[in-house]
This record gives sequence, C-alpha cells and structure tokens, in this order.
Amino acid sequence: MTDHVVSVENLVVRYGDRTVLDGVNAAFNTSEIRVILGGSGCGKTTLLRSIVGLIKPYSGRVRIFGREIADMESDEDSKMLQKIGVLFQNGALLGSLTVAQNVSLPMEMHTDLPLKLIDEIVRYKLAQVELPHAYGLFTGELSGGMRKRAALARALALDPPLLFCDEPSAGLDPVTSAGLDTLLLKLRETLGITVVVVTHELFSIENIADKILFLHKGKTLFDGLYSQARKIEDGPVADFFLRKESD
Ligand SMILES: Nc1ncnc2c1ncn2[C@@H]1O[C@H](COP(=O)(O)OP(=O)(O)O)[C@@H](O)[C@H]1O
Ligand SMILES: [Mg+2]
Repeated sequence: MTDHVVSVENLVVRYGDRTVLDGVNAAFNTSEIRVILGGSGCGKTTLLRSIVGLIKPYSGRVRIFGREIADMESDEDSKMLQKIGVLFQNGALLGSLTVAQNVSLPMEMHTDLPLKLIDEIVRYKLAQVELPHAYGLFTGELSGGMRKRAALARALALDPPLLFCDEPSAGLDPVTSAGLDTLLLKLRETLGITVVVVTHELFSIENIADKILFLHKGKTLFDGLYSQARKIEDGPVADFFLRKESD
C-alpha cells in the first residue's frame, strides 16, 4: 500500500515498435511541486499522457490516489480522471467561446450544478488565476500569458487535487513566465494541490521545484529533491543544469 498521489511502476510505453518509456518508476506526494526533466523527445509528455490515461501503457502500472488506472472505460476511472487538472502545451481554449464559457465547460459537462452557481465558480476561478477582467473576452483577445491563465482556470474548474502542466511557460516572455510560476506556487500554498510540471527553464525550476524526476533513455535517472539534484557532479543530470549536451 502506498499513500502517494501518483505512483508509476515499471512503466513501458511504445509507439509501434519504438520503446519510448522503458521501465519508468516514480512516486509523487501530496502538495509537492514535481518537475519532470529530460532531453527533448525523451518521453516527458508521453509520461504525463500515460499518467492521465490518454495513452495505454505497453506494460507496468500507474496508480492515482492508490487506485490503478487500468480500465479507462469504467465510469469510476473516468470520473476520477475528470478530477485531474491538465494544462497541455497545445491545450487550446475554444476560440468561439468567451473565457467564462471556456472555464464553465467542464462544470457544465460533468456536474449538475445550477448555471448561476457555475457562473459564480467561474468568477472565483478567474480571480484565483488573477484574470477577473477577462471574463467576457474571447480567446483571440488574450495575450499568451492570459491564455495560459485562462486555461489554468479551466483546468482548475472541477477543483482537482492534482494538476499537470506540460511546458506552461513555452512561448512566454521571462516576466510572464515568472508570473505563472508565482501563480503555481500560490495554488499549491492555498489549495494544497500536487503540481506536476514539465519544463526546461532553469529559472523556473529553481523557483518552483521541490522535487525532480529526471528521465534519460526511457528510464528514471533521478527521483528526488531539487537540492540533491543540484549536487550531482557529472552525468546527464549535471550536464542538464550546466546546459551541456550529454548522450
Ligand atoms: N503519437 C506518437 N506516435 C509516435 N511517436 C510519438 C508519438 N508521440 C511522441 N512520439 C515520439 O516519442 C518520443 C517522446 O516524445 P515526447 O513524450 O513528446 O517527448 P518530450 O515531451 O520529452 O519531448 C519522441 O521521439 C516522439 O517523436
Ligand atoms: Mg513534450
């Protein structure tokens, strides 16, 4: 038994005959900010997608809140997966809807809450991501940073205890990106949620990471405290922080 929020055991994921994840192990705890690192194309997005049930692993297992995600067809699993907030890199907002309508969508789809209450929650969520003024705007009217915050509000709509963000600061300027980091820290602080972030921005990692999961050649090369990761003197983890190429 384990009380990890997420645990991944010997996860193997293949695309055709190509093995991308080759026995990954990981365990994430409550209220931690976990940063997933590794070279481009090493399988970070694949790992996130496997954890949230979008990719079926070749073998191994994923548990969320102690429950194995085995049968995606089951009502219970799909209910639980709805409760995971996901901010994918290309997780576009719907352009034909306003920000408020985008944020209310998950609640309209998955709850029986009255519309008036949903509207109140939408306003609350937008305030939480510091975007109250964007309520009636269409997504085309938003800056890159505002769009990320709106998508975050939508990801938080169903009060998930677990939030995944895939390269949230990609394409953002450093100031906007730092603002997003501050927001993630605030969400963890106020809501106690577990946040799993893929990023390669050193500044961001330094700012937010409690723990690191470093993937290399399909395996977990390092799983532990950020402060410990920084003490590693050679090999791919050290090279990553020194911005050196490694093989
Ligand atoms: N749907 C897919 N079909 C085939 N190959 C894929 C697919 N998605 C990703 N890959 C490949 O798997 C590897 C890992 O991809 P990905 O998880 O996106 O890496 P990362 O997020 O670490 O950059 C890459 O080589 C990528 O080209
Ligand atoms: Mg990726």
